[in-house]
Amino acid sequence: MQHQKVLVLDFGGQYNMLIARRIRDLGVYCDLRADMTAEEIAAYAPIGIVLTGGPNSVYEKNAPHVAKTVFSLGIPVLGICYGAQLIAHTLGGEVGHAAQGEYGKCEFCFVEDSPLSEGVPRESCCWMSHTDRILSLPEGFSVLAKTQSCPVAAFGNAGKGIYGVQFHPEVAHTEYGEAILKNFLYGVCKASGDWTMKNFAAEQISRLKEKLGGKKVLLAMSGGVDSAVAATLVHRAVGRDLTCVFVDHGLHRKGEPEEVMRVFRDGLGMNLIKADAGELFLRSLAGVTDPEEKRKVIGRRFIEVFEKEAKKIGKVDYLVQGTIYPDVIESGKGKSAVIKSHHNVGGLPDVVDFKEIVEPLRDLFKDEVRNVGTELGLPENIVWRQPCPGPALAIRIMGEVTEEKLATLRDADFIFREEIAKAGLAREIWQYFAVITDSKTVGVQGDFRTYENVIALRAITSVDAMTADWARIPYEVLERVSTRITNEVKHANRVVYDITSKPPATIEWE
Ligand code: XMP
Repeated sequence: MQHQKVLVLDFGGQYNMLIARRIRDLGVYCDLRADMTAEEIAAYAPIGIVLTGGPNSVYEKNAPHVAKTVFSLGIPVLGICYGAQLIAHTLGGEVGHAAQGEYGKCEFCFVEDSPLSEGVPRESCCWMSHTDRILSLPEGFSVLAKTQSCPVAAFGNAGKGIYGVQFHPEVAHTEYGEAILKNFLYGVCKASGDWTMKNFAAEQISRLKEKLGGKKVLLAMSGGVDSAVAATLVHRAVGRDLTCVFVDHGLHRKGEPEEVMRVFRDGLGMNLIKADAGELFLRSLAGVTDPEEKRKVIGRRFIEVFEKEAKKIGKVDYLVQGTIYPDVIESGKGKSAVIKSHHNVGGLPDVVDFKEIVEPLRDLFKDEVRNVGTELGLPENIVWRQPCPGPALAIRIMGEVTEEKLATLRDADFIFREEIAKAGLAREIWQYFAVITDSKTVGVQGDFRTYENVIALRAITSVDAMTADWARIPYEVLERVSTRITNEVKHANRVVYDITSKPPATIEWE
């Protein structure tokens, strides 16, 4: 089935990925692309075009532009921030540099009814972030909304279905942003809302059945949500023609390998092989203290172990990878076909004898992958699993990785995760984990002096892991975690909380 598509032309704004996610959330498929000619856009046949924000001024020499003919294709257009200025500029209006920019929350007011304002109060709050502004509109366009310092906060031409908004409807601070985007999609572009994860899963399974049925298919299962959902889709399509290999490097969090086997092999009946390599990894990590060196050792060993398993299986027809849409966009703005350079499975294509790579999730955002997982009936624990780096606990143990430190960290981390879940904070905190530092401190437990490890807790909020802030966890929760760790975990007598954002720190400690 062919979905309706919206084209989001990316001019480099910081919220652009968010625009695409919001549109998808509203039930309309969209792609984020850059540099398309009017002919390419016409051939792509979108039901609507969104021109995004961006850092440039329309008058700058290398500012991105869009051909004037795009506005005569009969396809509705919504310009956001820079995109709105570009519409005005391209069609003969005037954009100018304001003496004072407008940043942050502003009161704005609709001054004329239009499909965009359907069901939206006349006055509400929006999020602005601009210095340039629209001074005069092209012929045939009228002002739809204003703020105190921005006389053209929204404008449009209903006959042509072309609209511009100076504010950002995609960010949560714009009170009725979602309603305005929805109005554009459903009221102007006449979307039918055919993009649902239920449809996606059903179509993908039938497509995979056709392509992979009766063939030999291989997948490296990491336990993370992407490979889990990819495996489940392919398994639904071809059953035991799919072989999954899970490398147990002995560095996973408490209970993870057992859970993967329980859910996928025992529960879903997948042909899932577990390669037990804990001892090999621990031996290889002996004496290694440098974080990058740890990553390299683990990466190399991972590929060796996987290769050994793959050799036992022999030549396969297809290698499945859990590449998702942000990976595709980041490595070429959606234009190039790339293989995900997962830190832990990056070298796989080189060591597996296969005909073709299959990436069933390459069109999906992370939230959509989770929704597909839920549609497929995967347990919450797997669907909502937070990102865990390939080298796992090895880079959360400062200094040398030893069995004893692994055991201490596993228990401390488990308590932290358990208390976060109990406090109902699991979904709002982006990532949270314990670290075992290479410091020992003096403590007193019972009547005895102790000299044991310091456990650090790290919890952050983030949208994309590029930047992050430390999570404001309630003191009572931190207190419970600290008490439980010092009481229940061997070789830990002190707990500290990391209150550093990224930058300057990174999320992981190594
Ligand atoms: P940092 O520590 O760079 O982490 O702020 C950003 C995100 O990436 C994850 N991360 C890794 N993932 N292999 C991975 O697969 C790695 O070597 C690695 N290092 C960091 C980290 O958990 C966070 O989500």
